[in-house]
This record gives sequence, structure tokens and C-alpha cells, in this order.
Amino acid sequence: MDDAAVGAFLELLRFPSISTDPAHRAEVGACAEWVAARFRAMGLEVELCRTPGHPLVLARNAHRPDRRTVLIYGHYDVQPADPLELWEHPPFEPRIRDGIVTARGATDNKGQFFAHMLGVEATLRAKGDLPVNLIFLVEGEEEVGSQSLGPFLEANRERLACDVIAISDTGMVARGHPTFSYGLRGLTALEVCVKGPATDLHSGIYGGAVANPATVLARLLASLHDGGNRVAVEGFYDGVRPVEAWEREAWAGLPAGDEELLRVTGAPQLDGEVGHTTLERIWARPTAEINGMGSGYQGPGGKTVLPAQAFAKLTFRLVPDQDAANIQDRVIAHLRDRCPPSVRLEIERGHSGAPYLVDPRAGFGAAACRALRRTFGGKEPALVREGGSVPIVADFKRILGAESLLLGLALPDCRIHAPNENFPLENLEYGMRLNMALLEEIAA
Ligand code: BES
Ligand code: MN
Repeated sequence: MDDAAVGAFLELLRFPSISTDPAHRAEVGACAEWVAARFRAMGLEVELCRTPGHPLVLARNAHRPDRRTVLIYGHYDVQPADPLELWEHPPFEPRIRDGIVTARGATDNKGQFFAHMLGVEATLRAKGDLPVNLIFLVEGEEEVGSQSLGPFLEANRERLACDVIAISDTGMVARGHPTFSYGLRGLTALEVCVKGPATDLHSGIYGGAVANPATVLARLLASLHDGGNRVAVEGFYDGVRPVEAWEREAWAGLPAGDEELLRVTGAPQLDGEVGHTTLERIWARPTAEINGMGSGYQGPGGKTVLPAQAFAKLTFRLVPDQDAANIQDRVIAHLRDRCPPSVRLEIERGHSGAPYLVDPRAGFGAAACRALRRTFGGKEPALVREGGSVPIVADFKRILGAESLLLGLALPDCRIHAPNENFPLENLEYGMRLNMALLEEIAA
């Protein structure tokens, strides 16, 4: 990897493009401008498209009717970097140590889509043109549910028409081990607030006579699971497709074991739904997660207070064939049924994304596997599903009618969404070569 490419990657990582935080709006926009400028310098035709949220960048070469059209998708927005004190250095001041770049967004998704930009750039420099018609789409709202991209796809169906979509925004089973993901979980988000007294109260003067919203919320949240870690919401598992025999077999042979997961997570022990293996729990079973909760005094020492309210942010990971709106309805009904009249329960529906599953051997899957083999020294690609979500993938299928090839470059210990997120320069190189091989294989 040459110094100029690495230098440009570090520039990209310096933008705090945190899409969820309105305080960073201008920097998110500046990051989009940077990506657009780089595409322009490559000689592509570029549009910076304003949306109600953050801008998206669209780049293309001159299209010819006798070539296949490939849409490459990535996202330049990142998750918040907190808790800041757990970073070894400021999250938007990237460092390189032993060939590994640390920064928020290094893996998710800046390193991965930038690798594709480098591949396109290298092909253009060497050959003057690409073997395919290219549409390169980089959005700024993936981490907040791609709210603007769906409508953008609807409005630009013809312009975005393509034969196949390529995305590097998922994981590799191990370093140097090519990985093809044929499934993603979906998700749906809810925010729950329990409101009790009009203000915080003295817990001695009122405690015992007025319901404590924190206690009520804790009970409601605890009711979401049974003793076997199954989600206790009625009908939650309706329509969940069982794992197929060939999948169980393929997964058993993967290098990703429970010990590796213990090491990467640092958890004292693994835990999950009874009757399923770890990979099944992550890839093929739905879950209910509390992502954040708050109530009462959080400062040093103690404070005898009966808090006026308590909140929790929830997401539910979904698998085929669960339906996000149906799951939201069921969870809301579950919580309302169990909420005592001594508090008010406010529930806000959040964003949703459908799960995704394809046959890895169909369509352009074989071309993708050839490109992966070529890039990774002939090694056979691992066929996996993912626990994470890329909500727009289901929309690509529904609106553009195209399948997505999920060719991830995230390593198991990349720490995405966590402090000290990192990406090895080795994968920047792999990603660049994967892009070049992939466009050739799709064209062939
Ligand atoms: N790149 C991730 C998803 C991912 C990571 C898939 C690793 C597979 C392996 C993506 O950027 C992401 O984090 N998505 C969010 C979506 C949500 C905020 C709408 C997710 O999965 O939590
Ligand atoms: Mn991502």
C-alpha cells in the first residue's frame, strides 16, 4: 500500500462524521465533500446529493450498453465514539501501529469502502477504463437506519438500475480468510419511557407511596426474556425460518469458535437462547437487546431520590421471515399489558430494516467467490451469515431488484462500534485487489 493511499485514508478518518449527533452535522457534510472530491479526481462523474438527512455521494464512469452494471455501496458515517476515556488516543486522530490503523470508522465503514475506491482508482490508472459500468454510492446515514436512501432509490430507480450490488460492510471469519456473507439480520428500534411523578422526589418522604419509574421499567424490561433467554413476547418467533442442514454443516467447519468469541469480547462466559449454538444464536436467531437505559442519580456518591422517569433504548434483531412492524406491535402490546396504572408509558417507534438471505451459489455468487479466491491466494471462501444489519440491502432487492454481494473485510477483533476500532492496512490492500478482481469476474 503506497504512502499516498494511506495518507488519504487517514484524512478520511479525521472527519468526525457521526450521523446520529446533530452537533456533527457540518463535519458529516464535509466528509461527503471529501469523498466527492476524491471521486472527481479519479475522473468519474460525481453528484453530491442533498437529502433531508445527510448528503449522499454518487459517482459513475461513462456507461456503455454492452457492459454489466455494478453498484458499489458504502457509508461514510460512523457511530459515536464514546466512551472517550477508553480510547488509547482521540478517536478522530488516527494512529498506525504494526500496520493496524485505529480510529472511529476505520473498519465500519471507511476502510472498507475506501479500499474499493482505491481499486477503482488503480484500474482506471492502469487501463483508462473499468470492465463494467460503475455506480458508486456512498451514503451518510447507514448508522441511523438509512432513512433518506430508501426514498432516494425509489426516486432514482432508472438511474440506479444495475445487475448486481457489491458491499464490503460485513465481517471476515479470520485474518486472511475470504468470507462471503449470504445473510444479514434485520432490526427494529423502540424507545421506552416510564413517567411517574411530575418531578424527582425525596425517596424517604414519598418512597413506598409513589411508584418508582426505574423499578417499573426494570420489571418491564426483565419481562422481555424468560429463564431460557428466549424472548417472551407472544408470537415473537412466529415465522422464524429454521437453519438448514447444509448451513449447520458449513458453520461447524468454520474457524470461529466459542474460545475466540470469549477472547474477543472479554465476557466471563457466553450466554444466549437455550438449545442453539453460538453461531446460530448470532446469525439465525432473533434477539431483544437493551442498548441504553437511564434514570435517577448517576453522579459520584449517592442521592436519595425517587426519579420522575426512566427510559430505555431497545432494538430487536430480526431474521427471515419476521416482519419489523409486526414485531414492534407485539412488543408494544407486551409492555402496555404489563405496565401498572401508577405510571405513564410512552413508546416511540424507531427505524427498521428487513433481514436478508440469499442462496450463495446463485446469481453472481460464483463470480464473487472466484474474486475472493483470486484475492486471498486461492483459499476457499467461508460462507456465513451475519448478526449485524445493513438495512438498505433488503431495499436494494425490493426497489432495484438486485442482489447484494456481501464481501466483508471486518476482522473479528476490529472493535466496531466500540473504543479502539481498528483496521489493518493489509485489509486495505486485500479490499483494493478484491475490487479489481470482482469487477473483472462480474464482467467475464
Ligand atoms: N457494518 C455494520 C453491520 C455489520 C457489522 C454487519 C459486522 C456484519 C458484521 C453496519 O454499519 C452497522 O453497524 N449497522 C447497524 C445498523 C443500524 C444502526 C440501523 C447495526 O447493525 O447495528
Ligand atoms: Mn457499517
